[in-house]
Amino acid sequence: MREKSLVLIKPDGVQRGLIGRIMQRFEDVGLKMVGMKMVWVDKEFAKEHYAAHVDKPFYPGLECMITEGPVVAMVLEGLHAVEQVRKMVGKTEPKSAEPGTIRGDFSQHSYAYTDAKGIAIKNLIHASGNVEEANAEVALWFKEGEMHDYKTVHEKHVF
Ligand code: PPS
Repeated sequence: MREKSLVLIKPDGVQRGLIGRIMQRFEDVGLKMVGMKMVWVDKEFAKEHYAAHVDKPFYPGLECMITEGPVVAMVLEGLHAVEQVRKMVGKTEPKSAEPGTIRGDFSQHSYAYTDAKGIAIKNLIHASGNVEEANAEVALWFKEGEMHDYKTVHEKHVF
């Protein structure tokens, strides 16, 4: 039940100065940061990360958006971390994301608006969708030596 999830604060989140506030939410719930770095993704790596979506009509916009500036990549570890993080992030479309979720609280795009404007939806975060995807994404983004093993106070009270 102890899992790792890959989380990206995408260029819109970095450029809006939301890194600290987004990380704070994950820390508050007791998720443990075991890897973290800032990366400027190129088109080739974007295609690897979004391999499941490269043939979709929205992919060109998504690639443009993810490569427009640096992202903050993190590996968060905790109980049911993959599901927990997705719940905290909220629905893909910010307009549909519930208040209290990160997307619901910090973003407002709708598919109707971005499709009409011909731009990519800006939804601040990528988070692994399931445990299998999380394991593959963590391996794609982080080398073993870039992740760290240490104890937090939550481990004393939760595990
Ligand atoms: S799908 O088709 O249901 O699998 O797509 P979904 O899981 O909703 O989204 C997959 C990723 O594509 C992003 N996405 C978009 N980006 C830009 N523009 C549009 N219109 C768009 N639609 C979907 C979506 O945010 C997902 O990226 P990540 O980074 O994982 O959130």
